[in-house]
Amino acid sequence: MPDPQLWTAVDEYVTNLLVTPDDALEGALAASAAAGLPPISVSPPQGKLLAVLVEIRDAHHILEIGTLGGYSTIWMARALPAKGRLISLEVNPHHAEVARRNLAAAGVDSVAEVRVGAALDTLPKMVDDGEGPFDFVFIDADKANIPDYFEWSVTLSKPGTVIVVDNVVRNGALVDESGEKPEVVGVRRLHEVLATDRRVTATTIQTVGSKGYDGFTLAIVKVDPAVL
Ligand code: SAH
Ligand code: DHB
Ligand code: MG
Repeated sequence: MPDPQLWTAVDEYVTNLLVTPDDALEGALAASAAAGLPPISVSPPQGKLLAVLVEIRDAHHILEIGTLGGYSTIWMARALPAKGRLISLEVNPHHAEVARRNLAAAGVDSVAEVRVGAALDTLPKMVDDGEGPFDFVFIDADKANIPDYFEWSVTLSKPGTVIVVDNVVRNGALVDESGEKPEVVGVRRLHEVLATDRRVTATTIQTVGSKGYDGFTLAIVKVDPAVL
């Protein structure tokens, strides 16, 4: 039986044992809440998952779409090697300002940069400017645009790039065929695209925890998008 309280208790157990108490990360959440940002950052075990994936990939160049207060940004930036870089895209100037302060307080502001603007404006500009390729991408902005974010992410990728997409299950709404909600249409469209996209190998894993019932899509880019 679903038991959200138990999911939260297990997240707390894992967090207490495996996520070292950390002033910068906890401070980022506290500062974000104080500034009125919504409490929708990845959970501590999910943040650590992102850090572990960044290390597994040995990523040097990370792209994040959707910064909020920079909580996930700090997790990923810290997992980078020396000279690694992270660019995070955020449409809300207030969120970006809070995130920049949090990144500075965490000591990762020389590694991680927040760019303000709608990601669908920023991403084409990055391609035009010859930025990338990135070796790790975390898509976590507005859900209706996920299919477009995925396409731009592949364009900014190289063979071996890992793309992680947050919030793709949404309490099971992923299988709601009648769904007219733009965010549900977005995550369903992502899966339809993935079903035929021969440039990537992908799967979706359902998750439960303090953020409820949701899931991640994980994809790896197999071929060089530049030669297609
Ligand atoms: N990755 C963060 C949470 C991001 S919440 C973490 O886990 O800590 C989603 C963020 O995406 C919000 O800050 C929201 O303002 C931003 N966002 C929404 N629409 C966007 C758009 N069109 N372009 C860029 N960012 C957007
Ligand atoms: C929402 C966005 C997120 O990125 C998330 O992890 C949870 C909720 C939201 O917009 O409601
Ligand atoms: Mg999210």
